[in-house]
Amino acid sequence: MKPFANPARPRKAKARSQGEFYPYYAGFSSLFVADAIAWALQGCTGSVLDPWNGAGTTTTAAFRRDVVGIGFDLNPVMVVVAKANLLSPLDAGVISPLTDKLIEAARVFDGSGRKNSLELYFKPRAANTLQCIALAIWEYLVAEMRPICKSDEVNKISPLPAAFFVGLFNTVRSLIRQFNTSNPTWIKIPSTPQEKVSARSCVVLERFKQEMNRIGELCSNRQVFAHTSQSICMLGDARALSLADSSIDAIITSPPYCTRLDYARATLPELLVLETIGLARYSETRKLLMGSAITNKPATAVPNHRWGNACLGLLESVFNHPSKASKTYYYNQHFSYFDDLFDSIGEISRVTRPGGRVCIVAQDSYYKDVHNDLPAIIGEMAADRGLTPMGSHAYKKSNSIKLINTRSAGYGVQRFPVETAILFEKG
Ligand SMILES: C[S@@+](CC[C@H](N)C(=O)[O-])C[C@H]1O[C@@H](n2cnc3c(N)ncnc32)[C@H](O)[C@@H]1O
Repeated sequence: MKPFANPARPRKAKARSQGEFYPYYAGFSSLFVADAIAWALQGCTGSVLDPWNGAGTTTTAAFRRDVVGIGFDLNPVMVVVAKANLLSPLDAGVISPLTDKLIEAARVFDGSGRKNSLELYFKPRAANTLQCIALAIWEYLVAEMRPICKSDEVNKISPLPAAFFVGLFNTVRSLIRQFNTSNPTWIKIPSTPQEKVSARSCVVLERFKQEMNRIGELCSNRQVFAHTSQSICMLGDARALSLADSSIDAIITSPPYCTRLDYARATLPELLVLETIGLARYSETRKLLMGSAITNKPATAVPNHRWGNACLGLLESVFNHPSKASKTYYYNQHFSYFDDLFDSIGEISRVTRPGGRVCIVAQDSYYKDVHNDLPAIIGEMAADRGLTPMGSHAYKKSNSIKLINTRSAGYGVQRFPVETAILFEKG
């Protein structure tokens, strides 16, 4: 079988200047997804699901191929980003006039008196202007009624307002750039009120306008597809998919990392934008996401033998590791991750039709000097859940050590991770 294109996006393509609406560190390459879809659907049309859809590479690639794409993610920010990525170039012309209207509306809104989560980073005046832009997008382009802290209200957002929310995310990021760190998934929080960002309303609005001009231009350069298929992106949990049994033809996906990459923390400023109008709650999202640094599972929990030997061996090695908190926090964190992974693979198998194909991209890593062979673990869990292996493609990564696990440094281990696309067929 011919290998698929490398799932890692070229480094340069991650830079915003290379033409993405939103810079996302954990997405896979669209060339890879195109190859994987061609393999999975064997040249036919059908439906492709990504239960951990992230920025929506799968749903966007599916749309381009006239395939029905369905994407779930439990982080409302990623749902908004994935929806924006489905924006049609036919909508590009309305972006500039609509931006002017939204700015006019934001000027007359008054958010004062309403709780404003953006005050974590901004002084009240700037936070108020940003909140008013978010309110204007919601009230003019989504619904008249304000959201009431029910995060599944993001499902109401269509690609056009989603693109405006992404413009607002990028505006916020550009205003708080001084809190960035060398780790793209971690942004500092001001430690004193004096450190908070102060910006005049006209500066914030102008920044938003510039950002929307950039998005409008990118959008107008996109190819027009005369397609009947549609992709949809929704808030949803990979551990409990709201889809019927055997309803999906193919799955292309990559689970969250098992290395304490805190996906909610990585999108903290964006979650605050949604929280400021009641569309998300940062603390809730942080608890819910798989691979989270916060887990509610008891440290004494007993693993399920069905998770397979590779997983049980890893958990034992973590538990018996002499380093601090291995028996408690780290064991617990790994345990929760694999518990969630096993449930998710069960769901992947349940919703795939017999004969349907599944491609899961996963990367190995290290806990200290203990090798976490995630692709092997997924292989064993998938076999238990009724998925038959059909081969794999491996890709060595050389530039992601810092991002994946700085904690194996000093243990003398070979730390170049390998990303593997593991292929299955539903029996
Ligand atoms: C590795 S990223 C997926 C990247 C995606 N393939 C792309 O190209 O953008 C994993 C995603 O899983 C999401 N996630 C974490 N826990 C989840 C859960 N229980 N259900 C659904 N999505 C979840 C995270 O928010 C993150 O966006």
